[in-house]
Amino acid sequence: MVELLPSILSADFARLADEVAAAERGGGTAIHVDIMDGHFVPNITIGPPVVKSLRKVTKLPLDCHLMIENADEFIPAFADAGANWVSVHYEACRHLHRSLELIAHHGMQPGVVINPATRVNLLVDILPMVHHVLIMSVNPGFGGQSFIPFALDKIRHLAELRREMGLAFRIEVDGGVAHDTVAQVVKAGADLLVAGNAVFGGGQPEQDARALLKAARDAAGE
Ligand code: DX5
Ligand code: ZN
Repeated sequence: MVELLPSILSADFARLADEVAAAERGGGTAIHVDIMDGHFVPNITIGPPVVKSLRKVTKLPLDCHLMIENADEFIPAFADAGANWVSVHYEACRHLHRSLELIAHHGMQPGVVINPATRVNLLVDILPMVHHVLIMSVNPGFGGQSFIPFALDKIRHLAELRREMGLAFRIEVDGGVAHDTVAQVVKAGADLLVAGNAVFGGGQPEQDARALLKAARDAAGE
């Protein structure tokens, strides 16, 4: 089943509870939260206090995408704040296996993220440990960027590996997922669709989330 994960990066932060509620009414089934440190990526966003506030206004899983260095130092704080899914970047973790174990040890679902320039094959050994793999289809740091087409090959490759290895991790895609790209993304094999600008950018998140999810499900034949 294809799911939509609205990314609050493009929401109005002064009205976050309303924005999240609207995206949820539109069919969002987890909330994607982009955590940036100004070091791993050239932007700064939010941290555990905002996750803690979000936890009070929604029952949906909070999918925290950590674009930070030294993730291990912050994993306990995200667990305390109420994060459910936590993904760390392959490129930012010196000891990826340890970071994934730490996330699971804190009762959260571990995920791994790869940038557009990072190959899917590098993940083979840790795939049995993850709940989701996040394929970046833009270079992380900002919302509203254009989808990088070769991400589709990576999604296909990952779906093939999942089949060959008999695993059940979810395949998540983040960056430039919108009306013009969503069908291809779904057909390539993605099942968790992150969308920021396409949901919040037009000022009507409920309607825009609903329309995007419908397009995704139509493409998936669901
Ligand atoms: C980018 C973030 C994304 C971002 C996607 O670094 O990881 O989650 O919100 O935004 P759109 O959907 O606008 O490309
Ligand atoms: Zn993200």
